[in-house]
Amino acid sequence: MAENTNKARTLKFDIFRYNPAEPEKAPFMQRFEIEEAPYMSLFLALNQIREEQDSSLQFDFVCRSAVCGSCGMMVNGRPALGCQTLTADLPDTIALHPLPTFGLIGDLSVDTGRWFRGMVERVNGWIVRQDEFDRTALEAPMDDKIAEKIYEADRCIECGCCVAGCGVANVRPDFLGATGLNRIARFMMDPRDERAQESWFEVVSDAEGVFGCIGMMACDDVCPKDLPLLEVYSYIRRKAVASIFSDGKDNPAKL
Ligand code: SF4
Ligand code: FES
Repeated sequence: MAENTNKARTLKFDIFRYNPAEPEKAPFMQRFEIEEAPYMSLFLALNQIREEQDSSLQFDFVCRSAVCGSCGMMVNGRPALGCQTLTADLPDTIALHPLPTFGLIGDLSVDTGRWFRGMVERVNGWIVRQDEFDRTALEAPMDDKIAEKIYEADRCIECGCCVAGCGVANVRPDFLGATGLNRIARFMMDPRDERAQESWFEVVSDAEGVFGCIGMMACDDVCPKDLPLLEVYSYIRRKAVASIFSDGKDNPAKL
């Protein structure tokens, strides 16, 4: 991270503007200038622009602390969280665009929720049991190492940065992307899930799943939570190969 200094810069923001509710107006880039403040994040800068210069500017923030996943945007061509990105780490001129691959709500605001809901429904991203759920039963203890692996995968905040940065996801809307495969891996690892291996591999073993990845690995470069996405891909690939030799029984591939 670059050192914060008190030397004020004038920051020039070139911001994508388009409101789908006004299709007669073509998209354009609008320039705003503000004085940089110490420890200024893009969240603070955009709020200042909206409060002082243009109240119609649309962008999303909720938690301001890299937890809710709502503030993903393209910052000088790279997906990033607005609340986590300090202007001190950026040049004087900052171009902001909405994340590609998601439906545009307006300006920098995109509908990641619809994409993630669709992905979760496609992969049945929840625990599947064969028995009836017993609310009164004690929860079964879980091995610490498995619990830690599941926790690691559960740190995904569904910001969409990995999808927006993925060359395949940008041309294939049906590609599950790193976050989708991470979600699948999370339940594959979970000993409470009783799905048959075949049902997993119906979802992951084609070009919409793990074999659609062409190895550019931008997902791993841009994930703001540093999830081990390369390991997720290799875990699922190893499980897929191992399943061929395991005669349908569980196999030992580990994340
Ligand atoms: Fe965001 Fe990382 Fe989750 Fe992708 S894997 S949605 S980049 S937190
Ligand atoms: Fe919640 Fe940025 S505002 S992740």
